[in-house]
Amino acid sequence: MCFNPNVTTLVLNKIWLDCDPVRPGHDDACAILLATSLPSDINLVGLSTVHGNASGECTLSNAIRLIHMFSPQHDALVVHPGAPKPLIRPSRADPEIHGPDGLGGVVGLPPLNHPVILSRLESSHTANAVEGLAAAAKLAISSGYKIHLVATGPLTNLALFISVYPYLLSAFEEVCFMGGGVGIGNRGAVAEFNILCDPEAAQIVVDAPIRKTMIPLNVTHKAIVTETLQRRLLNECSERGLSNTTTPLRHTLHSIVSYFAASYKSVFGFNDGPPLHDALTIAYVARPELFRATRYRVDVDCISTLGTGQTVVDAFNYRDYDDSWGPTGKNVLVAEGIDVPAFFELFFECVDRCDTVSRLNLAA
Ligand code: RIB
Ligand code: CA
Repeated sequence: MCFNPNVTTLVLNKIWLDCDPVRPGHDDACAILLATSLPSDINLVGLSTVHGNASGECTLSNAIRLIHMFSPQHDALVVHPGAPKPLIRPSRADPEIHGPDGLGGVVGLPPLNHPVILSRLESSHTANAVEGLAAAAKLAISSGYKIHLVATGPLTNLALFISVYPYLLSAFEEVCFMGGGVGIGNRGAVAEFNILCDPEAAQIVVDAPIRKTMIPLNVTHKAIVTETLQRRLLNECSERGLSNTTTPLRHTLHSIVSYFAASYKSVFGFNDGPPLHDALTIAYVARPELFRATRYRVDVDCISTLGTGQTVVDAFNYRDYDDSWGPTGKNVLVAEGIDVPAFFELFFECVDRCDTVSRLNLAA
């Protein structure tokens, strides 16, 4: 894969992850796993949740339960609740993919009434996603570092932050979001779920004057967790001295992936396994060289009936654009390829690392 000339792998990447709250859904859970378990070159400095497919609370609690399970080293990290609905449109529902509470079929997560989950839920309401992002941005500016802003759900929180604090965008290295499709969709002929949930927010984000990378369905549909990979998840353990049995963490991760696999098989006819959409955003920040991306003008269809939510990529430059990332420029790097085997090696490296710290295994 050719190296992406527009980005370089930074020595220490700080990441803020904004994920579907009602769902850290199954692939959002894998994005949280990578963000908390990548080698030292990734430092998760913030986590926020955004409306997804049902009530806001069960999403927020899902994000807290997941990070509590994956990463004791992030016990101090506050999970910030974000917008409970899109900017203008009504919320959409998608329980057929992720189940009614967003984490259908997942075993092993701490219960909602676990005292630590309850206390982290309590502290999560100290600052909402926009305020949390603003505080993190101000600290980054005063400390002289930049943050990679990653989104794996509808872009409502990012649109609100950009609209309220445009002068704080300088704290961010880039925005990387899973969403969109070039000529394809998954909740409409040409509409991908995250963009379709809030097209107006997506247009605000793609027009922000900052480098943006879109990881569309065209690429995420290549990252399929096949049966072989699901078996590897379940019964291969770390070389780091863990006994050669399936650890409770791996059992939980396998339940996440197999539920997702069943949904994708029944709803979309994905017979080889589910696409690990959201995890690719974290992999992109950590290892951009695994991806191939091209810079295009991208706009979001917010008005048509047939095409609402479509990410319209001007591949042949039908209009004149300048070299800015904003409203008059070629505003988005669109991912077009990924080194799939290398991505899954990175994923399993994170599973191995998480295996050595996860609270699930400590109780075993
Ligand atoms: O279309 C895929 C996206 O929608 C993923 O982010 C998935 O988690 C859902 O939010
Ligand atoms: Ca998501």
